Amino acid sequence: MAWLIFFLSYPVPICLLCTLIILASLFLPTSSRKAAFTMPPGPTPLPIIGNLHLLDIKRQDKSILKLAKKYGPVFTLHFGFQKVVVLTGYEAVKDALVNFTEEFVDRPLIPIFEQIQHGHGVFFSTGELWRATRRFTMSSMRNLGVGRTLIEERILEELSFLVEDIKAFKGEPFSLRTFNRAPTNITFVLLFGEREICFEVGLGYNQEHQKVGHAHVGLQKETFPGSGHRGTMVIPSLTSVLLDKSHWETPDEFNPNHFLDAEGKFVKKEAFVPFSLGRRNCMGESLAKMELFLFFAGLLQKFTFQPPPGLTERDLDLTVPQTTFTLRPQPQLTCAVPHD
Ligand code: HEM
Repeated sequence: MAWLIFFLSYPVPICLLCTLIILASLFLPTSSRKAAFTMPPGPTPLPIIGNLHLLDIKRQDKSILKLAKKYGPVFTLHFGFQKVVVLTGYEAVKDALVNFTEEFVDRPLIPIFEQIQHGHGVFFSTGELWRATRRFTMSSMRNLGVGRTLIEERILEELSFLVEDIKAFKGEPFSLRTFNRAPTNITFVLLFGEREICFEVGLGYNQEHQKVGHAHVGLQKETFPGSGHRGTMVIPSLTSVLLDKSHWETPDEFNPNHFLDAEGKFVKKEAFVPFSLGRRNCMGESLAKMELFLFFAGLLQKFTFQPPPGLTERDLDLTVPQTTFTLRPQPQLTCAVPHD
């Protein structure tokens, strides 16, 4: 009886919704049945939402890994009405980004970034504008000293400021965010010729730009090997490569032995691709690596880092990341004990 009263109270919206659901359910299965001959396998889409209910919004990378276990390394998902091909594991991701560079060079149009960037910049632009912007950015970065001793000296100078900041905490707990200031300042030096003026600006910048091993945003593919579907969006999952069981002994643990041979010598691992591969790879890779090396080595020579009193390393929950564009842990505290 209650449903009848409800229906009589809102007849128009309910009728419209029912019509929409019926139309969508008539349309979607037919298109996916047709596509089933050429598209990789995947979960059956529901009307309107497609497979969105299968994605944990906070851990989309983990949801993708779960689906790959069921449907294989290459599968099809429906984000509402948008069909998406997901690539997982080193072989599939490398094959696409390295062997089909031209096909995977563009990014899809993402409305929120279109609103913010209007198609400009390097990250979200496509076509000739992207080519020209990337070329210009590359040569500007080189002219400003990236990859040369000029920038190395600025990084070492920044390290000395960071060491002083950390010493000022006198071994007491402080936020890991304190470290953000150093790489931010290097970018400021490149862009404006001087270090940042205000700390808050730095935090804002980092929230936008710091990327630690996140899944690829997505590429607009024009052709897909074997499928012939032009314009289908493709998501190569970097998380799935960085956790690929066939390339890493203990993918879910921090294990420096992944990069050492039996004699303890460094081994380069093909599947270590936090900066991605192909023509759209990270433009800051060499700069970021130089910063990581100099900052880490410099800090570890000066301090031993420990969890705050009363906490052990096991209490640090690194499994639930912050919900942002990039993948990073919840804010944590650390204590830096000076070596001298
Ligand atoms: C640890 C630090 C960093 C990591 C892990 C990282 C990772 C990434 C990843 C995964 C992408 C996407 C690549 C793709 O779509 O295939 C990317 C793109 C990009 N990164 Fe980084 N990045 C880092 C630091 C930097 C820095 C310091 C800069 C600038 C100096 C930078 C500039 C860019 C640019 C401009 C792009 C867009 C390239 C394009 O679309 O053509 N990144 N980065």
